[in-house]
Amino acid sequence: MNIPTHVGIIVDGNGRWATKRGKSRSEGHLAGSKNLDSLCQYIFDRGIKVLSLYVFSTENFKRSDEEVNYLMDLFVKKFKKDFKTFSKKGIKIVFSGRREPLRQEILDIIDDITLKTKDNQNGILNFCLNYGSHAEIIDACKKIVIDSDNGKINVNKLDEDLFKKYLYNDLPNLDLLIRTGGELRLSNFMLWQAAYAEFYFTKTLFPDFNDKEFEIALEAYNKRDRRFGGINYEKKDN
Ligand code: FPP
Repeated sequence: MNIPTHVGIIVDGNGRWATKRGKSRSEGHLAGSKNLDSLCQYIFDRGIKVLSLYVFSTENFKRSDEEVNYLMDLFVKKFKKDFKTFSKKGIKIVFSGRREPLRQEILDIIDDITLKTKDNQNGILNFCLNYGSHAEIIDACKKIVIDSDNGKINVNKLDEDLFKKYLYNDLPNLDLLIRTGGELRLSNFMLWQAAYAEFYFTKTLFPDFNDKEFEIALEAYNKRDRRFGGINYEKKDN
């Protein structure tokens, strides 16, 4: 089986999962978080090197204070736990997103975990938190202008590889992008990195998106003919 290097997941459907069961939205997020524990381990054990998770968009701040606060508390607990689990396995944990207006407690954990896992070599777990792809591209452009003004880079030499280095994290492009919860859109997730990604949309709500569901996504990925704009007649004729 062909294993993708970089998988992205747009985590969606926690709220609907809870509502269907007469539970609160917070209980849906808790169920999603528990699912994430086992799913992340499974994905790295399966040989995927980079996993990006869209867990909170810049737009998610529009939700009620109660829900946002619940999620922020859950993130704090989850990051501490993930640090213990994944640093042992040599996984580097990184974060993508704007720092403003995240609270100091979250920023401290982000900085601490980033620093402590920075030399790990066995894989990368990228939490997209307070993330938006347009913001990421604009932030990269601002840094490029500053470096150009300071003579650090020559804008005539700017190409895709150099531009990538100015994004929140310098990661390989996405190979497989999964969205749970039934919506058929990207919602401002990794637009630059998804240029040649294979998309897999499923109606399964995130708390139910388990190892078996992930395997089905991998099987679908393996049936795709990835040509990257080129041609592959041999495969096409099959
Ligand atoms: C989308 O479902 C999910 C989120 C906005 C939060 C994602 C959070 C988790 C999986 C919980 C824990 C994760 C970490 C890293 C601690 P939704 O609320 O938009 O669902 P809906 O579309 O059914 O309302």
